[in-house]
Amino acid sequence: MDQPHHGGDRLWAAQVAGCEPEAILDFSANINPLGAPAWVKDFLRQNLHLITHYPDPHYRQLRQEIGAFHHLEPAWVWVGNGAAHLLTWLGRDLATTGTVTLVTPAFGDHWRALKAFGAHIQTWGLPWAQKEITLPQSGGGLLLSNPHNPTGYLFPKDQLHALLNTWELVVIDESFMDFLPPQREQSLISLLPEFPNLVILRSLTKFYGLAGLRLGYVLAHPEKIRQYRQWDAPWSVNGLVAALGGQLLRDREFQQRTWEWLTVHYPPFYQGLAVIPGLAPYPSAANFILVKTALPAPELQRRLLVNHRILIRDTLSYPELGAGYFRVAVRLAGENQRLLNALGSEGIAPE
Ligand SMILES: Cc1ncc(COP(=O)(O)O)c(C=O)c1O
Repeated sequence: MDQPHHGGDRLWAAQVAGCEPEAILDFSANINPLGAPAWVKDFLRQNLHLITHYPDPHYRQLRQEIGAFHHLEPAWVWVGNGAAHLLTWLGRDLATTGTVTLVTPAFGDHWRALKAFGAHIQTWGLPWAQKEITLPQSGGGLLLSNPHNPTGYLFPKDQLHALLNTWELVVIDESFMDFLPPQREQSLISLLPEFPNLVILRSLTKFYGLAGLRLGYVLAHPEKIRQYRQWDAPWSVNGLVAALGGQLLRDREFQQRTWEWLTVHYPPFYQGLAVIPGLAPYPSAANFILVKTALPAPELQRRLLVNHRILIRDTLSYPELGAGYFRVAVRLAGENQRLLNALGSEGIAPE
């Protein structure tokens, strides 16, 4: 089986570890460890009748609910089978701008979407270890994730706001922004009405633990949404998820619980990583942590799988990072401790 390019490939991990996929403790995919809200399974059971029918091709109700959540009209919303699906059309839009500046290291799907349409790509390496970061001030298209995957760096809203007057098209992938509580988030959504050159991508798969069910959306000026809809295939969001989406966004209790979990469990996990000889984690605003490692990450990954049935994300698919780093999701306290114990037992620091 090929080495995975994304996190969460439990089949590959199970083969290396010599166990069932269910036995793998997965730190490689950045999914909420609280799982999907408890009521979701009942909701799906009760709505199974929907699978016989085509969903509404306009997704009127879902777009209305997403729009209401963000104080936007439905015309500013389009939905997709996960953020990755919608990235395809954002890649097409960006490719028309001449040169696209991609902030690197970049999520692999950013590359895919741009290359699919022959975009002329120029990379801009994020100096994530520095305190003060200045982005290029002008250009054609700009694509970045905020919080940034895989570094966890959070661009302040004001800094991105300042770019909107000088870039032709700015696409911000906010797939992890919902993990930040309202007082810390740096979303640009409130700027949409002022800037028709701003496009924001959101995912519900990570925060709501629905990576297998899939739902994402794009927020942009109605002209852009009209264009993306013309490019898109019909019915790409299935009827069950279309019915579910609005209820997820209204589940304030689950949102609160997730923010509390991350606020409580991130600091001891980060500290635990920082004190292991040979490891250096970078501070992250999101639910994952990038870690520099003295032991090449593929070897560390193999040892953790074989000896502990734990899967971490190597960064081989990010050319700027290579074998010197790995990324881990923040999970539940006991699970985080299991990883820390396993890392501590592997003798990572050079003699
Ligand atoms: C930055 C970023 N955007 C988008 C996605 C894809 O999200 P979805 O599961 O909604 O397709 C990921 C998945 O890891 C991601 O890291």
